[in-house]
Amino acid sequence: MQIKLHNINKTYKTGMESIHVLKNLHITIESGNWLTITGPSGSGKTTLLRCISAIEQVDSGKVEIGELDMMNASEEERRRFRRKHTGYIFQDYQLFDQFDVLTNVMIPLLPYEPRKIVEEKAIQLLDTVGLLPRKSHMPAQLSGGEKQRTAIARALMNDPQLILCDEPTGNLDMNNRNHIMKILKEIHRQGATIVFVTHDQELAAVGDVHFEMRDGLLQIKSVEAG
Ligand SMILES: Nc1ncnc2c1ncn2[C@@H]1O[C@H](COP(=O)(O)OP(=O)(O)O)[C@@H](O)[C@H]1O
Ligand SMILES: [Mg+2]
Repeated sequence: MQIKLHNINKTYKTGMESIHVLKNLHITIESGNWLTITGPSGSGKTTLLRCISAIEQVDSGKVEIGELDMMNASEEERRRFRRKHTGYIFQDYQLFDQFDVLTNVMIPLLPYEPRKIVEEKAIQLLDTVGLLPRKSHMPAQLSGGEKQRTAIARALMNDPQLILCDEPTGNLDMNNRNHIMKILKEIHRQGATIVFVTHDQELAAVGDVHFEMRDGLLQIKSVEAG
């Protein structure tokens, strides 16, 4: 699905202070593209992902995702959109420590589908990310790479068309980083749109188009030929 951001503005106000993070930002992300975003810490990369997924509302401008106009959608429509169409992967995994790997992966779908179907799907995804032998482990018993692969399996439970990745390899060593990238590339190959935020200059070269976040705007760095 295509993502269109029309001149979006986002300001955070805390007490007396206000910080204008996104400044008339304008971008179209074509369906099935892989967009990479780099930029200094605090430049608004996470804010942008949160606005795209409608966790955060923009102050002005327009966010269109496929058919949905986020500004005019109800909270319920936005939540439904997130649940049906997006997967979100965080730098710090955000697993539930009190549940085992399998349960962590099942959680997003459990309220909506029969348990047996959810479990089959979770097992299939754990197999895809190479974690089936760890399905009964608790998060505390996993390496960083294994935690992130659990989080990716969880993010894929709804077959998302759009995957938002916020520095997903930031805490991982080279081997684990490469493993995660391999999984994401495969999902992309199957047609998902990927928005990938990274500090890793090497990974910035992956994808169809690379932008840098600066002064509240996305500045184009490179476009993959072909
Ligand atoms: N919920 C919030 N309330 C107030 N300020 C925030 C909030 N979230 C982020 N910010 C501020 O907005 C700016 C951009 O943050 P962020 O989008 O997290 O940047 P990045 O992901 O590029 O490091 C930072 O100055 C940050 O402190
Ligand atoms: Mg961030």
